[in-house]
Amino acid sequence: MKQYHVAVVGVTGMVGRTFLKVLEESNLPVSKYTMFASARSAGSKIEFMGKEYVVQELNEHSFDNEDIDIALFSAGGSTSEKFAPIAAQHGVVVIDNSSAWRMDPEVPLVVPEVNPEDILWNKGIIANPNCSTIQAMVALKPLHDKYKIKRVIYSTYQAVSGAGMAGYTDLENGLKGEAPKKFPYPIAGNCLPHIDVFTENGYTKEEIKMIKETQKILHDDSIRVTATTVRVPVFNGHSESINLEFEKQFDLKELREVLENAPGIVVQDDLENQIYPMPITAAGTNETYVGRIRRDESIESGVNLWVVADNIRKGAAANAVQIAERLIEYKNQD
Ligand code: A2P
Repeated sequence: MKQYHVAVVGVTGMVGRTFLKVLEESNLPVSKYTMFASARSAGSKIEFMGKEYVVQELNEHSFDNEDIDIALFSAGGSTSEKFAPIAAQHGVVVIDNSSAWRMDPEVPLVVPEVNPEDILWNKGIIANPNCSTIQAMVALKPLHDKYKIKRVIYSTYQAVSGAGMAGYTDLENGLKGEAPKKFPYPIAGNCLPHIDVFTENGYTKEEIKMIKETQKILHDDSIRVTATTVRVPVFNGHSESINLEFEKQFDLKELREVLENAPGIVVQDDLENQIYPMPITAAGTNETYVGRIRRDESIESGVNLWVVADNIRKGAAANAVQIAERLIEYKNQD
């Protein structure tokens, strides 16, 4: 069986480090790794799977002579915008964690439990969706298939790790009384209804990402979606209150079973024993946790869900590695 050469771009970052953990746990047939970051970390050393790797500076020639098959990118939008096409031109398949390529009609946007077949039409770049979108998609897809979703209302409670190392450090330092550097206001003891930049219609880019990406991944522009995204003082693990309105009627017990039997989901919903999803229990895992499943009694056919996942794992690194696994499965079938 073919062995692959995999590059990690942004290996020193929050997601980059988690790529390494997830890769270590995965069974990807890899013969060689190459580690990239910016000039700032070039030359620094990384221990990975019992070997020492020297971090290389990513530049226009990084993909010239190397036989890299797959590159996992998490080094920010501008790095992806510039370097992903260069990599793709050299025959590399880029799995990109930034928002740079997600809405490009030539680029598949993939959650492996939801639309793995979109991997097949990639032209060298596959986009990893926004962290909040990924966990929502895992929960919504089986319900959309069964009951056809008409409308979605997302309200998110997003961890600081979603803002990278700098976000994480702001909460750590904020708990010691220090002023924020990444966020516009203190995050310790606070909530910021402001993730990414504000746009003309008053929504943030994060909210618009959730709306557009939901429609693209579910291949259905008729689904109406609205969102309010909020940064909360949690280190790791995004939580989401999701309100769904369906076209079809549903039986609540059956809906729970649909979720229980869907790939990638763990239902945690035992009110008597106070069992429900929480960031502290989701952290360090690749699953999406769904609980507080209850009928929305204010509409004809609707449900409320509480959905939690580790935003750095399922919301970023694990989803990207799962895309790589599927890509290799498809290649092996050729
Ligand atoms: P570096 O550590 O050398 O700056 P985070 O979002 O957690 O801060 O991580 C960002 C990641 O993206 C880091 O690994 C960072 O590397 C990397 N990065 C930032 N800019 C570039 C660039 N121009 N080329 C390659 N990697 C970059």
